[in-house]
Amino acid sequence: MLFTIQVNNKKIKAEKGETILSALNRNGIIIPTLCRMKEFTPTGACRMCVVEVDGRDRLVTACSQPVEEWMKIKTHSPRVIQARKTIVELLLSNHPDDCLYCDRNLNCELQRLSEELNIRERRIRGRKIKPRLDQSSPAIVRELSKCILCGRCVRVCEEVVTATSLDFINKGRETHVGAAMDRDFNFSSCIHCGQCVLVCPTGALHEKHNINEVQEYLHKPDIIKVIQYSPMVTVGIAEELGMRYNREFDKILNAVLRKIGFDKIFTTGTGTDVCITEITSQLSEKIDSNSQIPLYLSACPAWVKYAEQFIPSLIPQLSTVKSSQQITGVLVKTLVAGQLGVKPEDIFSVSATPCMAMKFEARRDGMMRKGISDVDAVLTVRELVRLIRLYGIDTTNIEHEPADEPMANRSSSAVLAEVSGGLVESVIRSYHYLKLKKEADKQLFKKLRSGGVFREASVPVGEIELKVAVVDGLTGLEKLKASIASGKKYDLIEVMTCPGGCVHGAGLPFSSSKDEIRSRSKLVYQADDTEAINLPCKSPTLINLYEKLLKENIDIADKKIFYTHFERKNVLL
Ligand code: SF4
Ligand code: SF4
Ligand code: FES
Repeated sequence: MLFTIQVNNKKIKAEKGETILSALNRNGIIIPTLCRMKEFTPTGACRMCVVEVDGRDRLVTACSQPVEEWMKIKTHSPRVIQARKTIVELLLSNHPDDCLYCDRNLNCELQRLSEELNIRERRIRGRKIKPRLDQSSPAIVRELSKCILCGRCVRVCEEVVTATSLDFINKGRETHVGAAMDRDFNFSSCIHCGQCVLVCPTGALHEKHNINEVQEYLHKPDIIKVIQYSPMVTVGIAEELGMRYNREFDKILNAVLRKIGFDKIFTTGTGTDVCITEITSQLSEKIDSNSQIPLYLSACPAWVKYAEQFIPSLIPQLSTVKSSQQITGVLVKTLVAGQLGVKPEDIFSVSATPCMAMKFEARRDGMMRKGISDVDAVLTVRELVRLIRLYGIDTTNIEHEPADEPMANRSSSAVLAEVSGGLVESVIRSYHYLKLKKEADKQLFKKLRSGGVFREASVPVGEIELKVAVVDGLTGLEKLKASIASGKKYDLIEVMTCPGGCVHGAGLPFSSSKDEIRSRSKLVYQADDTEAINLPCKSPTLINLYEKLLKENIDIADKKIFYTHFERKNVLL
């Protein structure tokens, strides 16, 4: 039911049941918020969104207060502005003054609020929080003194990721956010997804940087510098640089990376094509042996760690095929090393990815061979953009260049794998082609592409009906469990930790509203609809790899090198 309320002496329409904030925003009135996150129940913790309501003595929090028909609201009265200013001043009173050196400098919500509220001096002095830098995690750094206790990370970790690795510790002035038993992060159940980093308004949580290490190696003359980047990286870089993404942007990025000093540039998409091909053969073996046990995809390293910690009974059902990043890394340190006539340790192999958990994955024991890692450093898109800016490269005025063989190209399936449901679709499409020698109708996968955190479909492949499930964000696991408990059987199950898939990876630019994530997914589906080569088995790069290059290289001829193992992990909760 719609009714009229008065805001700043003007009438606006409000809807019964909605909050004051929602009515204001729908009518184009913006007020600042801090603890609030869209799609979460409001806690009213920070009070940044206060407004004045006639007849109420106290200011009310617009994010949690339902709108009522009689209300006359003031959103920017002197009293309201002063209240918001005091809140920010209190937050700044014990905040470290190191904005210039902070990871979130120029991209910090606290800094922005302080600017918007015209705070020009420190009026309130509080007890400075003792600096505590936790660098124990392979993917995430925590700087406790920059935490403003908004609680966003705690809620995301519990309600979206379901890992519950962070919580409020102690009470009163001693309150802080920490991992289990206030120990270092590496003892916790954190699965390194980085979703908490995406929502943190300040520099209290950020990725562990590998940029300095990469720079150091870029200056070593005797080392071959190699970089792989996944399709979503180009989308993220175009977003961050304010450029329009299209397929040509890959060629701009290749040229930029060469200018920076990389000797070889590969697309991780080739690794994804290998990954799809190998999973397809695992699925084929499973179907041929009439196995009733589902095959769980393991391309998401955060999901794999979650399963190892919380559902170890699933480990035997996880596909043992390595992720695209690691397969590309393997090819770099074997095939490319062989082609260049150098030892694997003479190559510095960098991966640029939208996924923060890949920083952890690259260091897993199972990803090392004879003590040498296949991927030496992992950069998020944000780090790669910093590197591009550091080298002063003008991306708007640069000759387009191709990537390097033997991993210069990919099929559109490799792009599709970046959205939730995309990898499972790519595998079934490949299986369909393998069995029937014709491409599957894309309409068959409609149900897997959207429709909630748990999606399922039955896909006919000749005489067989493949039962498939997609878990889009770990909250979908409960529905999967319930479905299995009710007697449903599946052949193939995809689980992605980040809701929406890698298009919502924590290594992508911060400003990712739901609309932005949707538009990234749209780009992925567009690529799949418009590119000529849809299947890995039709990609000349993959054909050359499988039919020629792998056979010629004894290290990879039997393809065992593309497989890994997973094991139970014990962590403090
Ligand atoms: S990285 Fe993911 S699992 Fe770890 S604390 Fe953050 S949200 Fe939780
Ligand atoms: S670490 Fe960041 S997201 Fe978490 S409570 Fe502190 S400021 Fe908020
Ligand atoms: S944003 Fe409304 S109380 Fe924090």
